[in-house]
Amino acid sequence: MLAIAGIGHLVTNDPSLGDGPLGVIRDAAVVVGDDGLISWVGQSSEVENHTSTRPLDVGGRAVIPGFVDSHTHLVFAGDRASEFAARMAGEPYKAGGIRITMAATRAATNDQLVANARRLASEALASGTTTIEVKSGYGLSVVDEARSLEVARAVTDETTFLGAHVVPPDSDADAYVELVCGEMLGKCAPHSRWIDVFCDRGAFDVDQARTILMAGAKAGLGTRLHANQLQHGGGIALGVEMGVASCDHCTHVSDRDIEMLAGARATTVATLLPTAELCTRSPFPNARRLIDAGVTVALASDCNPGSSYTSSMPLVVALGVISMGMTCDEALWSATKGGAKALRRSDVGGISPEMRGDLVVLEAASHVHLAYRPGVSLVTAVVRSGKVMSGQLDFSS
Ligand code: NIG
Ligand code: FE
Repeated sequence: MLAIAGIGHLVTNDPSLGDGPLGVIRDAAVVVGDDGLISWVGQSSEVENHTSTRPLDVGGRAVIPGFVDSHTHLVFAGDRASEFAARMAGEPYKAGGIRITMAATRAATNDQLVANARRLASEALASGTTTIEVKSGYGLSVVDEARSLEVARAVTDETTFLGAHVVPPDSDADAYVELVCGEMLGKCAPHSRWIDVFCDRGAFDVDQARTILMAGAKAGLGTRLHANQLQHGGGIALGVEMGVASCDHCTHVSDRDIEMLAGARATTVATLLPTAELCTRSPFPNARRLIDAGVTVALASDCNPGSSYTSSMPLVVALGVISMGMTCDEALWSATKGGAKALRRSDVGGISPEMRGDLVVLEAASHVHLAYRPGVSLVTAVVRSGKVMSGQLDFSS
């Protein structure tokens, strides 16, 4: 059992528990039971009536739900620092760099891939990410995609089969789509919760994406899509039409795309990945436009060695606010509850009874500081399922 008291500003993401859209409680406390689930949330002065354990006092610091990073590519080997440097010297970003990482990934042992994925997942955890989705997509052969997903499973249950990242070199596109939908899907589905397709210029077109998502759905996988990252296209329309859980990137959106995402029957979240725009010097998506139209927006890191080599959700939140027109409340919500919705999860992304005991203590008076103090490491402790994963919680003395 874990009890945390002396919380100056607690973001619950449950408006019925506190003030405003984030349900903020001041002078708050949280109790997590031995099952790792939150058993009580309320005023610090009342905590002793709800626990038999000694409450740890965080000394007035802010506490937020653990970040839910619903989009990462952590299974790979090598890096692409020279491609990044060339880009910063004026080269454009192209999807083709994926093939460089493919070659390094195929040459790596399973142990090397697991070690790299664990290193990045630990880095993410230390910056407050308590739920993480991880994709395959740098194997691009039956054997290498299947082992990529086994590696992903070593770090998370939220695994995504992205055999359709790009067509590997020397392959025929139609034959590759057939392979992805057939033998590759058969070997990868047992290790996957989701299927994803990179539907964009230089990758797969709308018809190919539809075929692959339908095959994945038939095999029992949930569907999600990389859509409209590099150009205007039919990815978002396809995603909404198929009811995918999330269309990710949404860098280039038309009025029609927004109308579809906001439609009364739409069940698709728009997941924005601003560090990909930051690191490819691309225009940021206009989150304000999406939110004002009524679209559900999530924020995620897209951590990968090509377009966004960062696992930092605090940076993602700061960019959401500073560069994409989100309010501080909206960005925090999108990086926690929004991510949970993009993964169709109701047990994470908030701090209320019955939810998983995932929370982050900030060296700050409120969540506003995540954007107000960009680049400063404010995450001082991370708790997952009621266990302290990093930092310390007791500031009394
Ligand atoms: O989400 N867009 C496709 N995939 C990755 C980039 C992968 C890479 O460049 O290695 C992304 O940005
Ligand atoms: Fe991605």
